[in-house]
Amino acid sequence: LANFKGKDLLRIDEFKPEELLYLLDLANRLKQNQKSGQVYQPLKGKTLGMIFSKSSTRTRVSFEVGIYQLGGLGLFLSDKDLQLGRGEPISDTAKVLSRYVDAIMIRTHAHEDVEELARHATIPIINGLTDRFHPCQALADLLTIKEHKGKLQGIKLAYVGDGNNVANSLILAAAMLGLHVRIATPQGYELSSDIAELAASYAEKSGGSLLVTNNPQLAASDADVIYTDVWTSMGYEAENEVRLQAFAGYQINEALVKLAAPDYIFMHCLPAHRGEEVAAEVIDSIHSVVFDQAENRLHAQKAVMNAVM
Ligand code: CP
Ligand code: NVA
Repeated sequence: LANFKGKDLLRIDEFKPEELLYLLDLANRLKQNQKSGQVYQPLKGKTLGMIFSKSSTRTRVSFEVGIYQLGGLGLFLSDKDLQLGRGEPISDTAKVLSRYVDAIMIRTHAHEDVEELARHATIPIINGLTDRFHPCQALADLLTIKEHKGKLQGIKLAYVGDGNNVANSLILAAAMLGLHVRIATPQGYELSSDIAELAASYAEKSGGSLLVTNNPQLAASDADVIYTDVWTSMGYEAENEVRLQAFAGYQINEALVKLAAPDYIFMHCLPAHRGEEVAAEVIDSIHSVVFDQAENRLHAQKAVMNAVM
């Protein structure tokens, strides 16, 4: 734990593979503890500021409940109410909040804003989603795959949909831990080339692999895990009509999951749009683990807070 103290979590690959495995193990222990009714409050007296510039159900509730369970207090800070929303510089906000709270979780648009916050803060900064990354989601996703499949190394993970923030973090994390990743997106919605290159290099070291394609059937073939996310992320609403057309043919439905391994699991970070990126017959089937995934946000983030705070 000592190695993590004071660290930020801005993107998933600022931790080493063995550190990610440690956090997953810690998350699992915290989950078992919580389920058996044990009280574990290493963060007694500590506070977490939670800045939100975008909507949230899971991130907000799981962080606030998580810090409370660890003995601390979470403060919900909407940018609509903060002076930040009226133009107070990020750097000043970082310096001021560093005098009051022990860590900050932030959900906002530009990833660069979170980097700036981290540069000026003297306390750990945890990324609760930016336009580019969603590392806490990736950690919860890996925990969920490990629970359902018993291992990570060698698992075939298909991501079909938008090469977005969730995809970036998931694919980097999976490549670091030896999964065989296939990502299928429509043309124009691919992973950015820097992420694809990084993921390929991580996969080479871990014994995993990365396949980038525009063909969802190819990605889904024999997959152990099929993952998707919304076609229109927060902040991109103006593109919705164009996106609906571009992504037609990328829906996760019965026809597509027939190609997967018989015991495949379906994953989605939520919120989901039934009838768009996923058919109800898949997300509401016995293969779907989306609510385990949502629950694991709590346990994974408790591990992160326990480690860095
Ligand atoms: N998956 C996720 O981050 O959900 P929220 O937007 O509800 O926080
Ligand atoms: N990609 C989605 C994830 C929401 C949790 C978004 O950024 O809106």
